Amino acid sequence: MPAALTLTIHTLGMDAHRAMADQVRLGLTRSPKELPCRYFYDDRGSALFEQITELPEYYLTRAETEILEARSDELATITRPQVIVELGAGACTKTRLLIGSAHRAGSLRCFVPFDIGEGVLRSSVSEISSEFRDLDVHGIVGDFASHLDAIPRLGRQLVMFLGSTIGNFEVAERRRFLASVRALLSEDDFFLLGVDLVKDERELVAAYADEQGVTAEFNRNLLNVLNRELDADFDVGSFEHVALWNAAASRMEMHLRANGGQRVRVPGAGLLAPLEVSFEDRETVRTEISVKFTRGIVERSFADAGLDLRAWFTDSGQRFALALATAIPLRHHALDLAERDQLDVPNREDLEVPAGDHVREPAAGDAELARGFPKSQGLHVDVNTSSLH
Ligand code: SAH
Ligand code: TRP
Repeated sequence: MPAALTLTIHTLGMDAHRAMADQVRLGLTRSPKELPCRYFYDDRGSALFEQITELPEYYLTRAETEILEARSDELATITRPQVIVELGAGACTKTRLLIGSAHRAGSLRCFVPFDIGEGVLRSSVSEISSEFRDLDVHGIVGDFASHLDAIPRLGRQLVMFLGSTIGNFEVAERRRFLASVRALLSEDDFFLLGVDLVKDERELVAAYADEQGVTAEFNRNLLNVLNRELDADFDVGSFEHVALWNAAASRMEMHLRANGGQRVRVPGAGLLAPLEVSFEDRETVRTEISVKFTRGIVERSFADAGLDLRAWFTDSGQRFALALATAIPLRHHALDLAERDQLDVPNREDLEVPAGDHVREPAAGDAELARGFPKSQGLHVDVNTSSLH
């Protein structure tokens, strides 16, 4: 029986465009200025990111690949996934190692890559399904912040979030994200998270300011996106890439620094009149953060979200780690939080969840999707609403 291949596109239609305009206006009118990083990944941005992963200075991808090469058979044995869900999947290069192991072990039926980049997801979906012909592949184009609940539960799952993309979230965003990942997990599911570790500052800075200038191009591409999507008139060449280590916040920061004073019009981000923004000479706008972790930080973030760190794998250079977690049963977690006075619980009985109950209720459409799988063939594009523009 031929395997199924589907692609579901979730966007907020005009709302997505409005959201972009609002975020850009807020970011550019605050001091210091900042821009939202999710807009890095148009087709050019996704391609530039793939080049970054191959740079001599960008050790992250190689270190994570080393761990996966050594451990993916073991991970497949521990987690026995029927479904691998990958958040922020991108080109799925490293994922193939785990898919291969779980496929050889005989448990894997379905792969669900989720990403905001439609172009990169389309090519990943078709490449993976031609490489693993009997695997159902169900791609989802969506945003971590709005569409994680659109992920159907199609069997025992391993949810993965690789590449230290979690480092690109602010603390509050990370908390929200982990809580929604927790809501995707039933008792026998697993979550595998890739995190970059705290290390020597020079090595960190080099990874985000490469000799060839690919990271600089990637960073500046955000301005191209704003020029295109919001009719802005950034003179992209007048902004310089800056990467610096913020020790207090344990994170790398990427900025763009104005070379000479600039006046920029961003008509698409204006309210009544077009937005006009001035940059002083050498003023910077922050475009991205990349938090660097320790095992303790990961363990605490997991515990806050109701996740239990079960295994920790690092590469030989101790540069990067893969953290494997399971969901703490809801009842235990809620009581634990109540005990710590973090939750206002009028009546403890309200927290009782019948034993064996799955935490996540099946979403409307799960069954339909599952039924649709064996029958469908070829690439089905199910556009829920129009995409940006
Ligand atoms: N997992 C790959 C790619 C990491 S780059 C790797 O490890 O190499 C980060 C990925 O997250 C990109 O593919 C980007 O398109 C996606 N992404 C960024 N912000 C997102 C968001 N808000 N919602 C969904 N995906 C997002
Ligand atoms: N998740 C990647 C990281 O934090 C994203 C990234 C790599 C990135 N290089 C970048 C983001 C340069 C902005 C600029 O390493």
